[in-house]
Amino acid sequence: MIAHPNEKYRPFPPVALPDRQWPSRVLTQAPIWCSVDLRDGNQALAVPMNVSQKLELFEALVRCGFKEIEVGFPAASNTEFEFMRRLIEGNRIPDDVTIQVLVQAREDLIERTVESLVGAKRAIIHMYNSTSPAQRRVVFGLEKSDIVRIAQRGTQWIKDRLPRLAGTEVTFQYSPESFSATEVEFALEVCEAVVDVWQPTPENRIILNLPDTVEVAMPNVYADQIEWFCKNLRRRDCAIISLHTHNDRGTGVAATELGLLAGADRVEGTLFGNGERTGNLDVVTVAMNLYMHGIAPGLDFSDVNALIEVYERCTGMTIPPRQPYAGELVFTAFSGSHQDAIKKGLAEWEQKGRTHWDVPYLTIDPADLGRQYREVIRVNSQSGKGGVAYLLESEFGIELPKEMQREFGPLANDTVDRLGREVSATELKDIFWREYIERTAPLSLEHFHAEGRAGVFRCEARLKRGADTLELNGEGNGPIAALVNALGKAGVPPCEVAYYREHALGSGAEASAIAYIQIRLADGSTRWGAGVDTHIELASVKAVLSALNRALA
Ligand code: KIV
Ligand code: ZN
Repeated sequence: MIAHPNEKYRPFPPVALPDRQWPSRVLTQAPIWCSVDLRDGNQALAVPMNVSQKLELFEALVRCGFKEIEVGFPAASNTEFEFMRRLIEGNRIPDDVTIQVLVQAREDLIERTVESLVGAKRAIIHMYNSTSPAQRRVVFGLEKSDIVRIAQRGTQWIKDRLPRLAGTEVTFQYSPESFSATEVEFALEVCEAVVDVWQPTPENRIILNLPDTVEVAMPNVYADQIEWFCKNLRRRDCAIISLHTHNDRGTGVAATELGLLAGADRVEGTLFGNGERTGNLDVVTVAMNLYMHGIAPGLDFSDVNALIEVYERCTGMTIPPRQPYAGELVFTAFSGSHQDAIKKGLAEWEQKGRTHWDVPYLTIDPADLGRQYREVIRVNSQSGKGGVAYLLESEFGIELPKEMQREFGPLANDTVDRLGREVSATELKDIFWREYIERTAPLSLEHFHAEGRAGVFRCEARLKRGADTLELNGEGNGPIAALVNALGKAGVPPCEVAYYREHALGSGAEASAIAYIQIRLADGSTRWGAGVDTHIELASVKAVLSALNRALA
């Protein structure tokens, strides 16, 4: 990079729009969506899709609810042409879906495009030519008037061929390519000239697609350009204003959202933002952004995992783990405080009868995308006790007492830290089991029996301590107190039970119980223990021994 970028790069000139309205508007409805996955997305793939991959992705797009789909550039190659014919002749286009085809303003290409459309019920013919100063100067060496002429001539060539598509309801779409890098006055002039040739009506509107072909400015500038264009277009009622943003500065989604505030009606984009360079607009993000504000987007991503599977297989692209809404990690919290807040938020949401969503750190309910709650939290060395406890409870029904969480949380984190990776719920349970449930040394239980009533219990127990067998008996106001008494008489360090809790684990005939016990030793220190057994009394006895074994270790 250079020390004085102003010597190499220029600031982008603002649009003169002192009375701009878009900053104070809010979005209240979804736009018309058009997927350009099979054209703009496809042209940017290292290996473009073959006909069967395009067919599979087309069907996935239809399932998502797209009613307008740019299916290709039929004049560009035989594959593209054949794909069109397969769609039309195979009756693969649902009645409520309109296919769109792209073509340059060249007569031979328009001819081939029209040929590819014969037999379609409805189609959008999308013609474009470049209008920006850089393209005029560097690529074409043409004046503004030449650019206008190219656009008008192309429009006329398409109009002349409409009788060949007598059975097809044709909509015309025009794009001044690189609109956002074109002087707004000139972009308008070209579009007006095209409108003059096509003669749209309010009933049969033209689509004017205003591409941010290369994102060259901040999204507010694009919004100004769109608002300026909408205000100055002579026959606004005869046009559908369409946005087509790319993501070169990383603000393609923002540019589209602000462009909608500025008055646009329609949005072109691709699934997960596939497309040239940094990609096209990610329609999934814009649709889900509307959804999280309570606006029905008109697109359905309820099974986003299945969609990702088709998308990745057909395009060969992968979804980054932090891709908004779709990435593998977007419903995962690593930080303990986030996990704790999510846990509380989910509990409140359940408690309040699943009404309005307001769970910290989760913009939407993962279930709305077909994602699982269990994906919400995973444990790594940074996870707090709340996350650890949540996972044990949500996955295995282990309801650790709060104070025990304070002991086990750091223990689990240390183990995870040593492993140097995050752990699954099952691994976490294994850590818990090793730490508490499988603590059978030095003292292991061979036999326990207690009986009594009205606060007086006697017990007999047989324990193993290495090779030795200890035969014990004791008494107390309950079976556990009797055991503690018996242990003390046998020379095991004296202790008292400071906390006790038990609950069922699972249900039915196979159900077992888990007991959590905290003991206090003579020096005032405490230890937690836990035991599992089909008999609740034995679960408690094992929990006492688990705590003692941890103290003796
Ligand atoms: O980005 C762009 O300008 C395009 C046009 C062909 C609409 O894809
Ligand atoms: Zn594009």
